[in-house]
Amino acid sequence: MSASSRKILVTSALPYANGSIHLGHLVEYIQTDIWVRFQKMQGHTVHYVCADDTHGTPIMLRAEKEGITPEQLIAKVHTEHYADFSGFLVEFDNYYSTNAPENRELASNIYLELKKNGKIATKTIEQFFDPVKQMFLPDRFIKGECPKCHAKDQYGDSCEVCGTTYSPTELINPYSAVSGAAPVRKETEHYFFKLSECGEFLQQWTRSGTLQAEAANKMGEWFASGLSDWDISRDAPYFGFEIPDAPGKYFYVWLDAPIGYMASFKNLCSRLGLDFDEYWKADSKTELYHFIGKDILYFHALFWPATLKYSGHRQPTQIFAHGFLTVNGEKMSKSRGTFITAGSYLQHVKNPEYLRYYYAAKLNGSMEDIDLNLDDFTARVNSDLVGKYINIASRTAGFISKRFDGKLAALADNAVITELRQAASSIAECYNTRDYGRALREIMALADKANGYVAEHAPWDMAKQAGREAELHQVCTAALEMFRLLTLYLKPVLPKLAGQIEAFLNIAVLDWTQVDNALPAGHAIAAYQHLITRIDPKQIEAMIEANKESLQAAPAAAAPVAASAPAEANYISIDDFAKVDLRIARIVTAEHVEGAEKLLRLELDIGEEKPRQVFAGIKSAYDPATLQGRLTVMVANLAPRKMKFGMSEGMVLAASDERGGPYILSPDSGAAPGMRVK
Ligand code: MSP
Ligand code: ZN
Repeated sequence: MSASSRKILVTSALPYANGSIHLGHLVEYIQTDIWVRFQKMQGHTVHYVCADDTHGTPIMLRAEKEGITPEQLIAKVHTEHYADFSGFLVEFDNYYSTNAPENRELASNIYLELKKNGKIATKTIEQFFDPVKQMFLPDRFIKGECPKCHAKDQYGDSCEVCGTTYSPTELINPYSAVSGAAPVRKETEHYFFKLSECGEFLQQWTRSGTLQAEAANKMGEWFASGLSDWDISRDAPYFGFEIPDAPGKYFYVWLDAPIGYMASFKNLCSRLGLDFDEYWKADSKTELYHFIGKDILYFHALFWPATLKYSGHRQPTQIFAHGFLTVNGEKMSKSRGTFITAGSYLQHVKNPEYLRYYYAAKLNGSMEDIDLNLDDFTARVNSDLVGKYINIASRTAGFISKRFDGKLAALADNAVITELRQAASSIAECYNTRDYGRALREIMALADKANGYVAEHAPWDMAKQAGREAELHQVCTAALEMFRLLTLYLKPVLPKLAGQIEAFLNIAVLDWTQVDNALPAGHAIAAYQHLITRIDPKQIEAMIEANKESLQAAPAAAAPVAASAPAEANYISIDDFAKVDLRIARIVTAEHVEGAEKLLRLELDIGEEKPRQVFAGIKSAYDPATLQGRLTVMVANLAPRKMKFGMSEGMVLAASDERGGPYILSPDSGAAPGMRVK
């Protein structure tokens, strides 16, 4: 097959439909999108598909908590996810859902095929059951005391305090995180995929160049500890697909999730008239690549290839795993405001290409974690994109418009342009191997040379000297040709900016065939317009503040629906409750805060010498004038917190959910400032 006729199907992992897209997710989707755009620029036929991962217990319970159906929840989240991805210029050819007819049919057929091939077994197992909620509980929904260090309220699989892993049966005083009831042990019949019989195939498959070296090593560890059969069924109530010949039994979400890759592609096939089987039959000549995070390697490098193999399908060509995002060197944190949602970035920093550029600069195709250092982010984007790259056009294009009627000179031989052109294949190889960091280092070194050329010839001096018109014309034309090549090389990372530059240079869509297609003599370009602005560190501060605000300053208004944690136990001890010092407070002052979108500044009298200052996220619901003089309830012993606008010395309580709010509380008449609420 010739290089130009490659047919490539690419996927990113399917995000769960119970939370917002955050900057951690975007590492993956931006990484994939850059690769897909690059392969398309090489002239290959590429389809990039994804979908929301919609099934499972957490989604079912979350919908219940919000008082809507799972279908309503996943429809709402689908719209949000799609908008976030579009906002970051992640261009899927199809963004679908696992809760779709194609997926139901594919999952059923694959299961029946596995069964026919003797790869399905049933076994009666004992599992924890919530007698109040009448459902079996996944490990994550059982909590209790750590058997090792005796920390309370630990999850059923591991202790967050001492790090021990164990099984939920080992917990002391276990309780259901859904209802709080003590779970009972109950027998149930489960369906298993006989992974233990697939060892030979998997060992061979994982060593055949399908995985990065680090991933292959990891697999080695798993093989050494032996493969167990994979439990693929869950009992009702469960949001998912019922197993065809097993009423009341559902496919475990991880069975139908990767099949969602196929379903999304199938849906695309019916829209575009493509041949689905050409891509998925066992002897397919097409290529299949999955981009994933290192946390889901087990599913993609063991379960998935085995599922495909024993249902008569092709296996992935390669799996590309990446590491996890840290922000300022630490795990993303809600309290530090570094658990940054895609939406808040788009609202405050706005330009998605800054983040695409920064991630690309950090990615090298390995499974190492990558760090978003916010100061470095600002400095790097400003110096590379604005200071180096765009600078080449902004210092030369004006002369072409003003002095040469917008028309270019005939290019003379130029060593810098030659070098730029010769770099095409090396840069392409960096993109191809996902070493985007190296691609950008090469490109920026070339941008330095282009800037050196401009500085050395100083067109601004030539413009002031008589008789140097031809030279000026030549230098500016050469600089724009350098700019054109740099734009081509940066295009997988900066597709929108590249589009604007194509319009400015008045040229056809840039792809790798355009490397040698230099700007011709007499070619007319459009007037140069400002293309990109520097990041103002204030935008970053506002984004961090917004991610803090949504959690702490506006607890009632924003936190409950946005948080994706499973329903927590309802029980605390009276001692726990007594720790919260609730007081009747009189609102003596209420006012708007300059620059704050959600907050009002309140001064609250709780019978102390001086009123407390509290920033409350209730601006959307209250005119400050109507609050003055009212009595309400505040938490008086919350640690004071420094916010962008000043210290917040407590918190007022307010009610809300999707029906409305926030609504602050009012005590009955007789209550007076400072009285304890208990
Ligand atoms: N639904 C599963 C995937 C099913 S694929 C058939 C899932 N969803 S997820 O929403 O939790 O994660 C989606 C992808 O984003 C995963 O590949 C995951 O590794 C990646 N990331 C989620 N948080 C991340 C970081 N903080 N950093 C980098 N990638 C991260 O897993
Ligand atoms: Zn412990």
